[in-house]
Amino acid sequence: MTGLSEKTAAASSAILDELGTLRPRVAVILGSGLGGLADRVDDATVIPYASIPHFPRATAAGHAGRLLVGVLRGTGQSVLAMQGRFHLYEGWTARQAAFPVWVMKRLGVETLVVSNAAGGLNPAYKVGDVMLIEDHVNLMFRNPLVGQHHDALKQLNVERPGPDMSAPYDRSLMRVAEQAARSGGFGLPRGVYVGMLGPTYETRAEYRMCRALGGDAVGMSTVPEVIAARQSGMRVLGLSAITNACSPDQLGETTHEGVVEAAASAGEKLRAVVEAVVAAG
Ligand code: HPA
Repeated sequence: MTGLSEKTAAASSAILDELGTLRPRVAVILGSGLGGLADRVDDATVIPYASIPHFPRATAAGHAGRLLVGVLRGTGQSVLAMQGRFHLYEGWTARQAAFPVWVMKRLGVETLVVSNAAGGLNPAYKVGDVMLIEDHVNLMFRNPLVGQHHDALKQLNVERPGPDMSAPYDRSLMRVAEQAARSGGFGLPRGVYVGMLGPTYETRAEYRMCRALGGDAVGMSTVPEVIAARQSGMRVLGLSAITNACSPDQLGETTHEGVVEAAASAGEKLRAVVEAVVAAG
């Protein structure tokens, strides 16, 4: 791809102009309905996406569309929080969806925490549970590295011949997350996230397929961002708030409003886990 280097440079320098001396090493992508964590970023510098050159604009309901940079309460560490992300179902390319991650890399971010709302394929999961993503299946049939992998590597100064995906989610961060769940007295099952293009929720037959392919949760985001983060050498932690039970044989109706509401009910658990990971940061 031509121009990725110039675009990430322009975006990161506009952000740096706003940041003063803050240099967060941890970034958090807040998924549908999970924006509540943003209230805990103290003395936040707020940067609307619209003011950052080449940044896409968030359009999905429940997504604010801005960066927040400040100290995450209770951790003593600064974070960069993305309030609103770019979904492929909105018409963004995988490359656009991953763009903020490449910008984060330029800003010096080393650890990426991604959260999302997802349907629970695993019958043991209940609405309001949080799943620790230990692996994913990319059924979006899109990949942000198509056509520009080598260019991106050059601009990032990353020395790796091909992005290894044998362990995209960092095992030591998973252990920190699990310790936080134990301290908080809630379960945090490890599972496989299946990324679908959307925007339709799945049919019964598709839920059956996702489960048969090894999935525990299914959603419409996260995969492009994680691919870009791994390519850039960042450590990744992924969390799914389970917002609806995808039992093919007794499937209720799934609505965006219901998903956003249920995601908020998982908010406290997510907060505890994210705080622990940022504090360990
Ligand atoms: N499918 C896809 N994405 C989702 C779901 C689902 O059931 N729930 C929340 N996001």
